[in-house]
Amino acid sequence: MHASHSRRCAALSAAIAAGMFSDDTPSIMLMDLDQIHATITHIQQDAGYPASTLHTVAVKANPIGKVLQQFRDRGLGAEAASMGELQQALHVGFPPNRIVFDSPAKTRSELRFALSAGVAVNLDNFQELQRTADLLAAEPALMGQQQQQQQQLIGLRINPQVGEGSIAALSTGGAVSKFGFPLQEARAELVAAFKQHPWLNMLHLHVGSQGLELATMLAGVRAVWGLLQEIEAACGAGRVKVLDIGGGLSVDFATDAAPETLFQQQARLLADSIPELFSPNCSVRLVTENGRSLLAKAGCAASTVEYTKWSGGRHIAVAHLGADLCMRACYMPDTWGLRVFVCAADGAQKEGAPGVETVVQDIAGPLCFQGDRLAVGRCMPKAEVGDFVVVADVGAYTLSMYSRYNSRCSPPVYGYRSAAAAAAAAEKPAAAEAQLAAGGGAMQLELLRAGETLQQVLQFWNQL
Ligand SMILES: Cc1ncc(COP(=O)(O)O)c(C=O)c1O
Repeated sequence: MHASHSRRCAALSAAIAAGMFSDDTPSIMLMDLDQIHATITHIQQDAGYPASTLHTVAVKANPIGKVLQQFRDRGLGAEAASMGELQQALHVGFPPNRIVFDSPAKTRSELRFALSAGVAVNLDNFQELQRTADLLAAEPALMGQQQQQQQQLIGLRINPQVGEGSIAALSTGGAVSKFGFPLQEARAELVAAFKQHPWLNMLHLHVGSQGLELATMLAGVRAVWGLLQEIEAACGAGRVKVLDIGGGLSVDFATDAAPETLFQQQARLLADSIPELFSPNCSVRLVTENGRSLLAKAGCAASTVEYTKWSGGRHIAVAHLGADLCMRACYMPDTWGLRVFVCAADGAQKEGAPGVETVVQDIAGPLCFQGDRLAVGRCMPKAEVGDFVVVADVGAYTLSMYSRYNSRCSPPVYGYRSAAAAAAAAEKPAAAEAQLAAGGGAMQLELLRAGETLQQVLQFWNQL
């Protein structure tokens, strides 16, 4: 099961038919809920991770409550990198024992809140470790609150210093990194910290995101596994309860390839290189924190084409999506490719349709700078006023990075499921069977998040 352009077009057609576009709402986002659920089934059941693995979803990738709920309901946890994300994870209803708090700059009150809420906490540096020790010495009850139900997890984020990926801004495992304890420089102190603080019981790493080779990630996990052995040799077997290997699987932004194989490859490499982790007797639980690989390919965004024009002999279509939603791709187009499609006024794909003219064109966004372009000089079906521009693979790190520049309202987000899958999810087997027999049926849409209003935008700038 994977997001395909025909599924995107079917969802767009359903949205157009339901009257979801207007002058006030010229663009929308669409999340393929069937795709999300297929990915969840895969990572939990088929990919080959140890059965006890806790997979969490990185909230930063897509913090929409109704998106996170899909993961919560299937037993996944949440990784939160700020107080806002932690509060959102709790608000959505993830049980505290399935939440990992990884903020790189936790204040004293945030640390206190996280410990009293009973979420797992990964500490980033020696000062934060000391701060936590002081906090627990002053308020031992903070730990006691959890112990009746389960053990409080407190870990150290290790930078194994194994190298960078192809995108420097997303690489966190180089010799110099703003994240974590540098393993090669601090090894002895790290073992000493576990000896000194009996409440330390977890190790964490996240060596980078998109552009990171699986081999580099694996080298990082192996290095931290070595540290874990050393800690257990010094502090006793069974001391480290959790090995949290972070996220960072790179997705294919060039095709509709399913993300599933990524997880399979990672699980296989882990099993080959650290078979002990897969033994039923292993006392270390694996935790993952993926974001992009769980969500990017399930999302697309669509905008009406407002105007078309010519300049320098180039056809230019002006749409209502640009660097506000696709910030990385517009600011760094050579690093982040975007697949952009042109659909007709009824949502049907124009590519390959009879009589459609193909031209070299730019798809421009609505913002006041020249770099605000989703596509530059691309040969594609000519976009006409009233057509739709569809951007693929925007399910992660788009709305969560939405730019306030030019004060434009962020778009509403709808989830879509094929009618058969929706009937099956609603436990209506007869309806699901009938829909499947009819080829899956049309897409059913549900609102996941309302679009922003102008009033909310004004509130942002004028709150006192
Ligand atoms: C600590 C941590 N965990 C998980 C993630 C999620 O990474 P990805 O979306 O690449 O899977 C990130 C991304 O920045 C991170 O910093």
